Amino acid sequence: MYKARIVGTGSYLPERVLNNSDLEKMVDTNDEWIVSRTGIRERRIAADNQATSDLALEASKEALASAGIKPEEIELLVVATITPDMLFPSTACILQAKLGAKKAVCFDLNAACTGFIYALSCVKQYLEMGTYKTALVVAAETLSKVTDWQDRNTCVLFGDGAGAAVLRREQTERGVMGVYLNSNGNYAELLNMPAGGSKIPATENTVRERLHFLKMKGNEVFKIAVQSMVKSANEAVRVNNLTWDDVKFIIPHQANTRIINAVAKRVGVPIEKVFFNIHKYGNMSAATTAVGLDEVVKKKGVKKGDILELVAFGAGFTSGACIIRW
Ligand code: COA
Repeated sequence: MYKARIVGTGSYLPERVLNNSDLEKMVDTNDEWIVSRTGIRERRIAADNQATSDLALEASKEALASAGIKPEEIELLVVATITPDMLFPSTACILQAKLGAKKAVCFDLNAACTGFIYALSCVKQYLEMGTYKTALVVAAETLSKVTDWQDRNTCVLFGDGAGAAVLRREQTERGVMGVYLNSNGNYAELLNMPAGGSKIPATENTVRERLHFLKMKGNEVFKIAVQSMVKSANEAVRVNNLTWDDVKFIIPHQANTRIINAVAKRVGVPIEKVFFNIHKYGNMSAATTAVGLDEVVKKKGVKKGDILELVAFGAGFTSGACIIRW
């Protein structure tokens, strides 16, 4: 049986750290509120001259090195992002040139915070069908560039980063197992970036009205995030005929510690199995689960055959979970 096995992972976080006391000087907020309401203590911010593809490049190099694979061997390159370098060409094509992945077929995938899981599920199909043998999936974001640094409701939440995984078609029982995905476009107005697309093109007014920044009705998103992640987390376990006892680590999207705790409680997973890095990085959208996977693999002593679950929720709304047999 052919599977898409993850043969290498990598991540990259920009050097600049923005902590909660820095934010106290920018907007009317305080460390106590941010930590108690979100769990976030600091986040990374890309340099002015760093685009999403630059973060993606560093994460990709690390993933390729850990897999022992050369850029020229990549046949499929998918970048999950909502903060592309530009609307077109795709960040995947820009990354292809920087990486020297000459042979790769490249495209971007936008599923917001669920992007890495959607991309894994997409690449899994190509590899299992035999269309391609070697793929690189990168989830990279520079959310700091679309964050309204005057809006305390959102600016405390987000950060920049990138994670990458190299996958190969192999005859094995290991790899990306059954995936559960879900989308609901009825809530697009709760979380979006209004201007800069074809609906509201950029004008002096859109800039003045701060419409090129991420907008979120956090309170309403919170409830749906918990419900959707619980459903996705449980469905992925069910479609793979597993129980929660089989799962070694759950790597959830990191939007809010209270969301993660509520999800863990409702699905009945002991909190020791749940991975957290939100205190260091905040919400990095698609990059969150990709960076989480790399950190779990490298720091938590994941062994051959261990079962991991990634689960996420994001703008769209999108939601999903995937099981990986390591
Ligand atoms: N510092 C201090 N006070 C703040 C603040 C900040 N950074 N941000 C908001 N507040 C205030 C609000 O103005 C409000 O004040 P009011 O009661 O006087 O109006 C109060 O805190 C409570 O706001 P509320 O929005 O109800 O807080 P909350 O407990 O829902 O927490 C979020 C806000 C954004 C942290 C939370 O709703 C959340 O995490 N939402 C979901 C995030 C998510 O899942 N994102 C996308 C998925 S990827």
